[in-house]
Amino acid sequence: MVSKKRSAILSMNGFFSNIKKLKSSILMILIITAIYIVTLLLTFLVQRSAIIQILLLVLNFVLSFLYWKIKGAVIALNIGTIIFTVGAYNKMPLEYLVAGISLLFCLMIMLVVVFRKIENQRKVQQQNEIKYRELFERFKRYFDLVQVMIVGLDVDGNIILANKKTCDVLGYEYNELIGKNWFKDFVPNGIRNGLSGYFDQVKKLPNGAFDYHENPVRSKNGIERIIAWQNTIIKDDFGNVAGSLSAGLDITELRQMQEKLAQQLKLSESLYSIAEKLVLEKLNVHERANTLSKMCVELLDVSLVWVGYAAPDKSVKIVGSYPQNHPYVKDLIVRWDDSPYAQGAVGRSIKTGEYQIIEDVLNDERFIAWKDKIAPYNLKTVLSFPLISPSGVFGALVLYSDKYGFFSKEKVEQIKIISHMAAAALENARLFEELEKKLGRIEALHQIDRAISASTDLKVVMSVLLDQVIHQLNVHAADIFLFNEYSMNFEYAAGRGFRTRRINPKPIKLGTGLIGKIGMDKSSMKISGNICEYCKEFENRHCERSEIFAQEGFVFYAAVPLMAKGRLLGILEVFNRSDIQENGEWFEFLQVLGQQTAIAIDNAKLFEDLQRKNIELLQAYDATIEGWAYALDLRDRETEGHSERVTELTLKIAKKMGMKDEELLHVKRGALLHDIGKMGIPDQILLKPGKLTDQEWEIMKKHPVYAYQMLSRIEYLRPALDIPYYHHEKWDGTGYPMGLKGQEIPLSARIFAVVDVYDALTSDRPYRKAWSKEEAIEYIKNQSGKHFDPKVVEVFLSVLEEMTAID
Ligand code: C2E
Ligand code: SIN
Ligand code: SIN
Ligand code: FE
Ligand code: FE
Repeated sequence: MVSKKRSAILSMNGFFSNIKKLKSSILMILIITAIYIVTLLLTFLVQRSAIIQILLLVLNFVLSFLYWKIKGAVIALNIGTIIFTVGAYNKMPLEYLVAGISLLFCLMIMLVVVFRKIENQRKVQQQNEIKYRELFERFKRYFDLVQVMIVGLDVDGNIILANKKTCDVLGYEYNELIGKNWFKDFVPNGIRNGLSGYFDQVKKLPNGAFDYHENPVRSKNGIERIIAWQNTIIKDDFGNVAGSLSAGLDITELRQMQEKLAQQLKLSESLYSIAEKLVLEKLNVHERANTLSKMCVELLDVSLVWVGYAAPDKSVKIVGSYPQNHPYVKDLIVRWDDSPYAQGAVGRSIKTGEYQIIEDVLNDERFIAWKDKIAPYNLKTVLSFPLISPSGVFGALVLYSDKYGFFSKEKVEQIKIISHMAAAALENARLFEELEKKLGRIEALHQIDRAISASTDLKVVMSVLLDQVIHQLNVHAADIFLFNEYSMNFEYAAGRGFRTRRINPKPIKLGTGLIGKIGMDKSSMKISGNICEYCKEFENRHCERSEIFAQEGFVFYAAVPLMAKGRLLGILEVFNRSDIQENGEWFEFLQVLGQQTAIAIDNAKLFEDLQRKNIELLQAYDATIEGWAYALDLRDRETEGHSERVTELTLKIAKKMGMKDEELLHVKRGALLHDIGKMGIPDQILLKPGKLTDQEWEIMKKHPVYAYQMLSRIEYLRPALDIPYYHHEKWDGTGYPMGLKGQEIPLSARIFAVVDVYDALTSDRPYRKAWSKEEAIEYIKNQSGKHFDPKVVEVFLSVLEEMTAID
């Protein structure tokens, strides 16, 4: 199927290029002839202008030589010129004639030479074109078979060859295509500077080499396809560029696929980075919601994103957004009930658990509630995705675009993945926060426990409790009223967080006011809004604390009765200056804290009782000890009053030697009981009027050990044992029962020994009469460093002196 048109174009092509050459040759001859004529005229008009003539002839010679390079023609021309010039110079008509003829002759020769040359070229080119044509025709069948575009262009960029694939891609019939200009008709503007850019590039290639490039072509119906080209140059037999031949592979689909792949890669990378940021970083719900919004805006090319939580009161709370502080999001009311604020994408997506799109926010009836608010912001369409956790829908991811139809199926699929991830991350953060809150509460309970067990002071315990109540329940103020069982009144005991300097209110009777009612019903209470209104309603009278409530600005109130072992101990109240939305768990914790408070108060009360009982018991013990001492003195008639006297003197010395009150208490008890061991000594030894036998003395020496055995069984007297056990040890180590020496003997025993001996010597004994004071003092001084600690003796003497001075 050889097209005549095509072969015609091919041969025309050669012809035109020959005609061009012919034209320029004729022009050249005309120029040269003109120069001759000027030379001739100069010869006539201006005599002796030989120099100009010669210059003009040289010019002619140069031009001829440059243009034709045909030596014969040049020689002939120059001979004619010389004759002409000589003749003209001598003004000989015959010579003019000869010159003219030779000139014409020359011109004819030149013309013949030129025409012959052109004719030759034309023939060759025609042959070439036929050759090419045959070649193309022979190969076209193959060209049509390959799935690669094959295009031949002439030097003007016109199509001279195109295979079937080219026709298919460009959407033209073959015949329509041939002769169309490639660069004007198929290459979109601005690609490679059109024709000249293309040939400049291709011409630079060495013979047979290919130039590779990718560029789009525009088909008949305006669709652009991307083609990968291999171009090479075609030259004719004379080495002139005749056109180009190109093979093009349609890589549109490939590129699209690569593009899609790259996009998908980018998406999954960004998903990964979202996941990483959301899941790995320890963020709270707000931070996560903000991060998520920001990433959606950056990755999805949307204008505004926010994350909302479905609150129990059916409102949607915005927990994060991007761009942050966008004026549209500020004060935005969205709900998920049946109000108009729930008819948009968000409310419906929360209610249905399905994503919802409002394509045109300004004209969709369902968006009417926000139409005016959104109007200034160039937000055209909104998509809301439900955030779903295992326990159901808990919020929504809301995205706005400034382009209609932005949320395509594909976009929605992408956002769906993000919303799933977002739900997981947000739920995670929420659980974490909840866990932290729970741990905080456990810690609070622990602290309360510690406070309860560490302090028995009710005021301290209540202070710790109120701190924890305010902190853990996140309320502005809290107080405790204690119930007085005798007066049947509630009395203010402790408070925290009140702005007004709250004067303790007068006691509140059981059964009156809020507190009275709670105490009466023994059940907790929660009031949102006007506390006094509520109070008046059941009380049917003026609210007693209304002024305080008004000044404080409280709008939320909750209280629990403090009960322990079935007894009402008081009331714990909490107050807040804004409403508290809570899901039951808050109130539960208030009740737990109430129980703790009750336990603490009960404990403190118990402890107070115990302490009182303990003191009573201690007093009873001491009375008993004194009784024993008295009984002992009575038995050993002669030593009557001895115990009291030695106790008094011992305490004086001990105090002077720096003993503390607590120690002195034990010293007192020890001194009173020092000879309690004598209870175990039979009367005939103890009361013997004469000297003891060795055997009797052995028994007598046991009295400190008996004291030890008796008293060590009594826990409470154990710290008082030193005197009864060691009062017969001596400084030089010769005493009994242990034979201790110097500082080994407890100080209290060392002190007591001095006092005991002094008192014994100055008293009548069954075995001897009392010594005088002076004799006794002399004896004590004498025994200093032997029987007694010299230091104690010193203090003893000074104390004795003080006493006599007072006397
Ligand atoms: P006590 O009568 O209360 O005497 C306490 C301590 O005072 C005596 O401890 C002793 O160190 C000193 N002391 C009392 N009387 C004299 C005395 O006349 N001369 C001297 N140098 N020191 C005296 P001691 O010796 O360990 O006796 C412990 C207890 O044994 C006495 O308590 C007393 O109840 C009894 N005891 C000691 N010697 C006799 C005795 O000869 N006859 C009788 N019946 N009982 C005696
Ligand atoms: C909605 O679509 O539910 C409302 C969201 C908005 O107020 O922009
Ligand atoms: C109260 O008992 O809580 C006070 C109630 C009132 O203000 O009347
Ligand atoms: Fe004794
Ligand atoms: Fe004694």
